[in-house]
Parts: sequence; C-alpha cells; structure tokens
Amino acid sequence: MLFRFIVAAALSARCLNAQQIVNGQIFTPGIAIVDSPQPNTPLGGDHLQVAIDVSSDGQLQLPPYPSNPVSAIYNITIFLSSYITGWNFTISNGTASNGSLDEIMGQENGSTVKHVNWVWPDCLVGKGPPGNINSARGLYNISIRQNFRLNGSDEYTIFDLPIHVTNSIPAQDNRPSCASLNNTLLNESMLVASANNFTRIPGTSIQGNGDSGSGLGGPKPDANPGDGLGGAGMLDWRAGLHVMWIGVAVFMLAL
Ligand SMILES: *[C@@H]1O[C@H](CO)[C@@H](O)[C@H](O)[C@H]1NC(C)=O
Ligand SMILES: *[C@@H]1O[C@H](CO)[C@@H](O)[C@H](O)[C@H]1NC(C)=O
Ligand SMILES: *[C@@H]1O[C@H](CO)[C@@H](O)[C@H](O)[C@H]1NC(C)=O
Ligand SMILES: *[C@@H]1O[C@H](CO)[C@@H](O)[C@H](O)[C@H]1NC(C)=O
Ligand SMILES: *[C@@H]1O[C@H](CO)[C@@H](O)[C@H](O)[C@H]1NC(C)=O
Ligand SMILES: *[C@@H]1O[C@H](CO)[C@@H](O)[C@H](O)[C@H]1NC(C)=O
Ligand SMILES: *[C@@H]1O[C@H](CO)[C@@H](O)[C@H](O)[C@H]1NC(C)=O
Ligand SMILES: *[C@@H]1O[C@H](CO)[C@@H](O)[C@H](O)[C@H]1NC(C)=O
Ligand SMILES: *[C@@H]1O[C@H](CO)[C@@H](O)[C@H](O)[C@H]1NC(C)=O
Ligand SMILES: *[C@@H]1O[C@H](CO)[C@@H](O)[C@H](O)[C@H]1NC(C)=O
Repeated sequence: MLFRFIVAAALSARCLNAQQIVNGQIFTPGIAIVDSPQPNTPLGGDHLQVAIDVSSDGQLQLPPYPSNPVSAIYNITIFLSSYITGWNFTISNGTASNGSLDEIMGQENGSTVKHVNWVWPDCLVGKGPPGNINSARGLYNISIRQNFRLNGSDEYTIFDLPIHVTNSIPAQDNRPSCASLNNTLLNESMLVASANNFTRIPGTSIQGNGDSGSGLGGPKPDANPGDGLGGAGMLDWRAGLHVMWIGVAVFMLAL
C-alpha cells in the first residue's frame, strides 16, 4: 500500500520534502491525487475539508467518460476511521444521508478538484488532544477508496491518510450524531484482502480515452494555495513532475 510509502517518506524527511516542495500533492494508489490535507495535519473547525484532484493533474478527462473507457474513476468512497477510538464514520458512500455526502465524482461538475466538505459529527466536538480514554477525538485515517480503471485494468484500492483530530471543533446544532454515521471496522488483513495491490509511481502517465482524454490536459483552473499546492502550484506542472521524478529516484535509492 502506498500508505507505507508515506510513512517511509515521512521518516526519510529529505525525500518527502523534495516531493512536497514540488507541489504538495499526495499521490494515492489510484488516479486521484490529494491536494490537502497533508499527512498528520492537526484538524478541526466546522468541517473536515479534503481536496482531491480526480484528473491526476490533467492527465485524465472528467466524467462523463465514453463507454468502455481505457481509464476512468467509477466512484470514490471516503470514511474517517480509527482503530484507536473504534469509530468508522461515513464521509461518502455514494448516497447522501444526514451527515454523509453524495458521490464525490458527481460533485462540482467541471472541476478537476473535488472539495469534500463534511460536517464533523457531534462526538468530535472539543479542543486539543483526547482528554480521556473515552474521547472520540485523536488519531484518524481519512480512508479514500477508489473504484477505477487504469490503462484497461479495473482496480479497487484503499488509501489511508492519517490526520489528527486535535484542533478545536465547536458545538453546533447541525452536527449529525456519531452513531448515525458509524460502520463496522474491519481488521487490516480483511482490508488488504478486499483491495487490489496497486501502486502508482508519481509521474507515470495514464492512457486516455481518445481525443478528449488523451492529452496532457490544461492548466488547473481552480488550484490555489488553499488546496495545499503552495507556491509550487505556480510552476508549470510538467517541470514539477520532472523535479518530482528526481525526488522519487532519490527516495528509491534511499531504500
Ligand atoms: C490507519 O491506517 C493504517 C493502515 O493503512 C493502520 O495501520 C493504522 O493503524 C490506522 N490508524 C488508525 C488511527 O486507525
Ligand atoms: C463503484 O463502482 C464499482 C465498479 O463500477 C461498482 O461495482 C460499485 O457498486 C460502485 N459503488 C458505488 C458506491 O457507487
Ligand atoms: C456536467 O457537465 C457536462 C459537460 O459540461 C455535461 O455534459 C453534464 O450534463 C453535466 N452534468 C450535470 C449533472 O450537470
Ligand atoms: C442532520 O439532521 C439534523 C436534524 O434534522 C439537522 O439539524 C442537521 O442540520 C443535519 N446535519 C447535516 C450535516 O445534514
Ligand atoms: C451510507 O452511509 C449512511 C450513513 O452512515 C448510511 O445511513 C447508509 O445506510 C449507507 N448506505 C449504504 C448503501 O451503505
Ligand atoms: C461502531 O459500530 C460498530 C458496528 O456496529 C460497533 O462495533 C462499534 O462499537 C461502534 N463504534 C463505537 C465507538 O461505538
Ligand atoms: C468502514 O466502513 C466501511 C463501510 O462499511 C467499510 O467499507 C470500510 O472498510 C470500513 N473501514 C475500516 C477501516 O474497516
Ligand atoms: C480479521 O477479521 C476476520 C473476520 O472477522 C477474522 O476471521 C480474522 O481472524 C481477523 N484477522 C486478524 C489478524 O485479526
Ligand atoms: C504487493 O505487490 C508487491 C510487488 O508485487 C509485493 O512486494 C507486496 O508484498 C504485495 N503486497 C501485498 C499486501 O500483497
Ligand atoms: C499506462 O500507460 C502509459 C502509456 O502506455 C504508460 O506510460 C504507463 O506507465 C501506464 N501506467 C501504468 C500504471 O501501467
């Protein structure tokens, strides 16, 4: 799983920096790229916000895809889960409910970056790290699951992005109950068995779907520093990828 890469990269700070300085983007084992948040960020506020580039930096067209696409994201589900607290909240399972969101790929039509905006449920209200053993606050994974097709192969992958729910989350009337969003937690062997073992090396290309999808894509009209792109978002992305390749090569040698 690419999660290991993130952990390894976090330990091997120089290489991760090389990658992050280029554009601050987290490559998942799939087509999607997480623009924000960064791993291990302390989060809070009114909402959990996640920015996901579903075009792989303009390499893949947006839906609607042609029938029998060579590459496509069929759907993305997202959960917020923690083996420590025992909660596994639905952020999106494809069907909106009180507190969970509609299909991510259907959001913000025409935008290559989908901005997930999820109201924190009630049991996460509080300030700072978990105050006692029963607290729901603390370490979580934003678990991003992609059903996709890349270069003609169907895949399902799980990408766990660790975050810290430790910033202030104010009490508000619109917070759904934690129980209404909770799901069974599966152990890691079950999860590994349920997903394809697929790694995407950052920078590798994606076969498109003919004219509209085969190109390198245009600029990212809605990328901004708030997406976590930082100043490097100003770079031409091809140059960025070149620099990143160097970062990845250094990382591989470091292994
Ligand atoms: C996050 O996911 C990884 C596996 O991808 C797991 O090892 C870790 O325990 C999870 N963290 C929490 C807080 O559940
Ligand atoms: C996601 O796509 C896969 C593959 O097409 C399909 O089997 C699955 O039912 C879809 N799931 C959701 C939540 O839409
Ligand atoms: C999204 O935009 C595309 C192209 O502009 C259009 O064909 C499609 O009908 C739109 N979908 C929705 C749900 O508005
Ligand atoms: C959930 O339902 C409650 C009660 O109907 C409502 O006040 C609240 O705004 C809803 N929250 C969300 C996030 O939809
Ligand atoms: C989606 O998640 C919501 C909230 O957890 C739940 O009520 C609903 O049953 C789920 N739907 C499916 C198809 O799993
Ligand atoms: C969430 O739901 C699962 C399945 O019903 C349950 O085993 C677990 O205890 C619940 N989590 C919490 C923190 O209540
Ligand atoms: C959380 O619940 C969803 C929906 O049931 C499930 O697909 C997912 O694997 C669960 N996450 C974990 C870490 O068990
Ligand atoms: C994971 O869960 C499955 C189903 O509950 C169980 O059969 C298996 O022994 C568990 N694996 C581990 C390593 O705990
Ligand atoms: C995934 O594939 C790689 C390379 O083929 C292999 O080294 C690794 O053990 C596999 N991981 C799992 C969980 O099967
Ligand atoms: C997809 O195909 C392109 C073009 O043939 C190739 O460069 C790339 O490595 C392939 N990607 C994967 C993950 O196989």
